[in-house]
Amino acid sequence: MFKSKKLMDLSALEDGESTAVVANIKGEPRSLIVVRQGQSAFVYLNTCPHIGAPLDFEPGRFLNLEKDLIQCAMHGALFTIESGNCVAGPCLGKHLTPVPIQITKESIYLA
Ligand code: FES
Repeated sequence: MFKSKKLMDLSALEDGESTAVVANIKGEPRSLIVVRQGQSAFVYLNTCPHIGAPLDFEPGRFLNLEKDLIQCAMHGALFTIESGNCVAGPCLGKHLTPVPIQITKESIYLA
């Protein structure tokens, strides 16, 4: 069992969907983007590298219509789910800030 802090159960998020959670990162409560892909999950700070705005269209909604990229609601930047790299928009070449995690069969933990 990990000693790290549990972020959420995988079963709380449908495969291919995103959500927002708040967790303490370096002693500060931060909003996080969580995207589930099968038994994997990708977690980033909910802060766009363009001007630092939160990305969600509505709370927890981060994905484009095709649900294959993370999209910023502010100016439409697109980021790959797996790497957080910006592939289109005003912050092209920058990336979301990844949050290290560990995953068990059931749960996502902060690493
Ligand atoms: S704040 Fe995200 S694209 Fe401008």
